[in-house]
Amino acid sequence: MPLDIIVGSQWGDEGKGRMVDLLSAGADIVARYNGGDNAGHTVTVGARSFQLHLIPSGVIHPQPAAVIGNGVVLNPVVLLKEIEMLRQAGIHIDPERLKISHAAHLITPAHLALDAAQEAARGGRKIGTTLRGIGPAYTSKTSRQGLRLGEMRSAETFHAAVRSHVQVVNRQLSRLFDVEPLDPEAIADEYDDYARQITPYIADVTGFLSEALTRGRRVLAEGAQGTLLDLDHGTYPFVTSSNPTAPGALVGLGVGLGHVERVIGVTKAFQTRVGEGPFPTELHGDLATRLRGTGENPWDEFGTTTGRPRRVGWLDCVLLRYAARINGLTELALTKLDILTGLDPLKICTAYRVGDEIYEQLPYGPSDLSPFEPIYAELPGWHSDVSEVRRWEDLPEEARAYLLRIETLSGTPIRLVSVGPERHQVIEIS
Ligand code: IMP
Repeated sequence: MPLDIIVGSQWGDEGKGRMVDLLSAGADIVARYNGGDNAGHTVTVGARSFQLHLIPSGVIHPQPAAVIGNGVVLNPVVLLKEIEMLRQAGIHIDPERLKISHAAHLITPAHLALDAAQEAARGGRKIGTTLRGIGPAYTSKTSRQGLRLGEMRSAETFHAAVRSHVQVVNRQLSRLFDVEPLDPEAIADEYDDYARQITPYIADVTGFLSEALTRGRRVLAEGAQGTLLDLDHGTYPFVTSSNPTAPGALVGLGVGLGHVERVIGVTKAFQTRVGEGPFPTELHGDLATRLRGTGENPWDEFGTTTGRPRRVGWLDCVLLRYAARINGLTELALTKLDILTGLDPLKICTAYRVGDEIYEQLPYGPSDLSPFEPIYAELPGWHSDVSEVRRWEDLPEEARAYLLRIETLSGTPIRLVSVGPERHQVIEIS
């Protein structure tokens, strides 16, 4: 089967970008299926580090075509900047190579204003969104008032549609949130300009993919965010507004069920989260600082999109088991094993406790994790540098034991392990 799907198994930021980069070496098409520029995917090639928000990370390779599917919400300003950044770096992007679904939805300044107003109004119950207008853009979509990219192709009706969309949001901003209204005409003019630049990229993505899959061309579907941020299956309401889980790839690209081969869950060797919401294995103090890094390196635990320090903790295998189930994972790709070097002992959450009850599975999904206390297994750490290791058998025995324990607890084989940010710092396990 020619379709592989890469999903985040945690709360996003698992290092999907670099795994996509690795796996897309053999892909004909790389395809992004959900979210918007709330995502930040970092790919490091030599001295260069690329931060991508919308265009699939696999585009750094010269051969695959790139697709942005209907499941994505797209801020045109960010898209155009990203195209420019890639071109400056010598990466070929044109409408032959990059195709964007006519059914993807646009994010506008009105969505950004609503996101900020809604977060402010939530007070102590705020979600900690990336303030990129994601939730309001998906709300427009599901309330059937959204602006689809396809509308950009007819200049006059598009101008009127943008103007009327801003007028509708203005009423909400002033009546519900007491926020200054935006200028509908100025925004419509601005979007006319984006339409001229983006229209050549608009394509029948489902048709393009269907033909490619039928001909056996390899497609790599790249999710943004992670399983625990899934609107339906994550830690609701502290979630994003799309479906990052594997079935979201089929809906968000418009491809059928029969093409899928591998479903690769990317997980860090520990756990991180940005934004609010429950996090049973969260750590504070020196250990947290040790896992997070200081922010000096691009791979330290600070948000690619917002720069916020990520919350960090021990790996939670109850949640990983859940991710394996929801996505139907066929394998795991584990990132940042090198960060654990020198930490001894290591802990892994194997189950939860509430009073005398032990839970190895979540009884009602992850929405309310607050009553659960993690039960940890302690494992010996390792002290030798693993960043130059390229074969399973060359890993320290304690590192192998750590990985084997994760396989057992998640019920999923680990096929890839990254031991540093560079492309080549990966161990493939057959
Ligand atoms: P939104 O997607 O901006 O609405 O944010 C909703 C929640 O998802 C917040 O907790 C964000 O921090 C989180 N979130 C959104 N995108 C990402 C991501 O790419 N990585 C990690 N967390 C994310």
